Amino acid sequence: MLKLRSDYRPPAYLVTAAYLDISIFDDQTLVTTRLELTKNPDAGTGANEMRLNGRDLELKRLSIDNIEIAKDDWPLDDAGIHLTNLPENCVVESLSVCHPETNTTLEGLYLSGGMYCTQCEPEGFRRIGFYPDRPDVMTIFTVRVEADIAYPKLLSNGNLVETGAASEGRHFAIWHDPHPKPSYLFACVVGDLECAEDSFVTASGRDVTLHIYVEKGNVGLTGHAMDSLKRSMKWDEDRFGLEYDLDLFQIVAVSHFNMGAMENKGLNIFNSKFVLADTNTATDTDLHRVESIVAHEYFHNWTGNRVTCRDWFQLTLKEGLTVYRDQCFSADTHDEGVQRADDVSLLRAAQFPEDRSPTAHPIRPESYREINNFYTATVYEKGAEVIRMMAAFLGRDGFRKGMDLYFKRHDGSAVTCDDFVAALADSNDIDLSGFARWYEQAGTPHLLVKRVDDGKSTITLDFEQTLPETAAKTPRNPAPIPIRLGFLDAAGHPVATSLTPDGVSADEHVVLMQKATHRQSFHAASGAGDVALTPSLLRNFSAPVVLADDLSAAERLHLMAHDTDRFNRWDAAQTLAADAIIAAATGGNSLDADAAALSGAYRNILGEADLLDAFKASMFALPGVSVLESRLNPADPVALYHARMRLQAALGDGLSDIIAAYLKDDVRHALQASDGGRALLNALLMLGVAASSKQAEDIAAAQVLDANMTLSQGAVMALNNSASAARDVGLSAFHDRWQDNPLVMEKWFQMESMSVVGGTVARLKTLMQHPSFDPNNPNKLRAVLGAFMSGNPVHFYAEDGSGFAFIADCLIDIDGRNPQISARMVLPLTRMSAYDDGRKAQMMAALRRIDKAKPSNDLAEIVEKALAANS
Ligand code: PHE
Ligand code: ZN
Repeated sequence: MLKLRSDYRPPAYLVTAAYLDISIFDDQTLVTTRLELTKNPDAGTGANEMRLNGRDLELKRLSIDNIEIAKDDWPLDDAGIHLTNLPENCVVESLSVCHPETNTTLEGLYLSGGMYCTQCEPEGFRRIGFYPDRPDVMTIFTVRVEADIAYPKLLSNGNLVETGAASEGRHFAIWHDPHPKPSYLFACVVGDLECAEDSFVTASGRDVTLHIYVEKGNVGLTGHAMDSLKRSMKWDEDRFGLEYDLDLFQIVAVSHFNMGAMENKGLNIFNSKFVLADTNTATDTDLHRVESIVAHEYFHNWTGNRVTCRDWFQLTLKEGLTVYRDQCFSADTHDEGVQRADDVSLLRAAQFPEDRSPTAHPIRPESYREINNFYTATVYEKGAEVIRMMAAFLGRDGFRKGMDLYFKRHDGSAVTCDDFVAALADSNDIDLSGFARWYEQAGTPHLLVKRVDDGKSTITLDFEQTLPETAAKTPRNPAPIPIRLGFLDAAGHPVATSLTPDGVSADEHVVLMQKATHRQSFHAASGAGDVALTPSLLRNFSAPVVLADDLSAAERLHLMAHDTDRFNRWDAAQTLAADAIIAAATGGNSLDADAAALSGAYRNILGEADLLDAFKASMFALPGVSVLESRLNPADPVALYHARMRLQAALGDGLSDIIAAYLKDDVRHALQASDGGRALLNALLMLGVAASSKQAEDIAAAQVLDANMTLSQGAVMALNNSASAARDVGLSAFHDRWQDNPLVMEKWFQMESMSVVGGTVARLKTLMQHPSFDPNNPNKLRAVLGAFMSGNPVHFYAEDGSGFAFIADCLIDIDGRNPQISARMVLPLTRMSAYDDGRKAQMMAALRRIDKAKPSNDLAEIVEKALAANS
């Protein structure tokens, strides 16, 4: 059934208090929900009816105001209990049974590695007990949890009120959460867990106890997460004046989890991959991700929990905003330029392709069949870009004023994206209605910028925006596009310009484009003489658009070398590399000239003493196949992959002397001491091995065994696509070293799957028989199948369709156990719009086969959209 945003109706009843009793037994769990209901004054004169959602639950008892309802009179339907003719105020109590011990969906209450845990967002609570499972019903929960004493820890949200013995070898705990919350933020964890403990004193002096719970033996791996948590708490106070609001903050790490982590009030539940990390088991990139996810979930305490979503169409209200906040935190904590390059890479690799696909949707969707399918790069990453544009427009203080008003108006309630934008607008007395278009229109705008030549120290730019049609068929009106820009002279210095012949000059301007076309002249300050101005456009990626400009390769090299905007230095390199790869993939171009020019530019960058190693390293990251594809129709991912590898080899050749110098023992050891240095070293090692440097291969082979995971994994990755003995030796050494560590083994699976020389379908089948593989663990599925689809184009897009057929088989199997995961993992199979007819037909055949196998609602929504879009 399709749900529409326009169908929203307020709930007829509110829950003024909820009492849960959860009693866990080996073969079943008993759940009582006792709800105090009162008619919603804002609901108009609707009928006195109320829905308690329930899914896969067995109802045992139902009473209203303590009067038992006979079983034959239970108002049950497919969706749960439908109560009618209720008094204005009443107490409804239900007792039901659920089965965590056989729940493989990983939503609701389930078992992971011997511990019971919950995942309720978005609609998992209804798998635990009967309840009005919608985010605009917020209430105060009191929860009693009971289990066998073999499970010593009984956790839930809020404050621990009471513990004690229950009948025969059982015990209980009672938790009370004073903050009203929707059911999706409920959590409960029961298990034999170890705890790392610390504390944080808030700005106003509240002493908060911090607990991180992990499986036995893992406490030593929680230090980085704990440190990240404390720094996040401090940052939110400093930047937004937001303090934590309970005396206890708990994190639990679980090994079976569909997503990254979950912001349940006072009891965040994490995929263990994003908690357990030290420098021996996790790379610098992994550690960085742990930090940003810990921050993200913590930041949700205000943007998500204190102020939540009225309905699930508003998901970007909390997710776009919280991603924006965690990006700001990471930029402040590390380097702004590197962070922006990383964030834009992700946007281009994951979100732009979504906009071109059958599942395209605006950041605030208009309809859905299964809300689980809308936890997307569009809602998250593009949502963050939309907030970023408004924040940049308002300036730092203006955005802060807007946030302050948002909390003042809406604390403790469930609101819409319009409410958020209104708070930003009202607090700044400014009209933001144009930005509303970004919430309703799918698709990535194309921004065309052309120079109109008018000679002497004046430059005129013509801007044009167009919005391509998408599968979502949303309106395609011009939206406000802020274009941050500046100019460089021939020596690479910034040139101040003014927007009128005698206006005030500045090195940088923001042109806010409001219409389909826009023309703007820039006048170099008088006295500048006749200067050649190189435009630096869309600085810091000031809007989530595809930019097409008329710059020459020489001008891009100039920006790459000199721009004051580091994002644009990085992006100039991205464009140059993409141009070279595409020319080589489509025209059989030898690459020599392009690679020589790029090598020269990289050589200079390596020599720049003031530039961070981390930034230099990010400059070497060549655009991935999913980004390259977007510029071609038809696109051949296999040809692009090979051309990309050839560019890597050519750069390795062109820089061979300098790589050799960096790999010398003393220089190398110095680089190994910092995260930026390690990133740079790994980038150079990759190029060296790609160019078949014996020195690079030998160093990589030895570095596989380094105690530092960044160096070890960097070495295996460098070797991973070369058909050499060193690759096999390296991978098996890595395997043997880590075979008892399930999390590190995910890296091994991933590298095996991504290898162009090793990662064949036959090899993947073997990997899935490995003792460390677990078909019920999403991390393992992502490590083998996800990595194959995104990182091994040669075998996934194989000419004979074998990659697609294999994935289809796997997905049909997975769908029977975990529909969220099958629906997410099918996405690459639906992204065929730019492929040739042969590949399209094979992908369609794979999708049809899935469709015939009667997929879950989750998987069916995606597959049927793709079939419809391509038929
Ligand atoms: N709300 C979580 C986050 O973004 C993501 C999530 C969604 C986790 C659904 C689990 C299930 O932080
Ligand atoms: Zn989130």
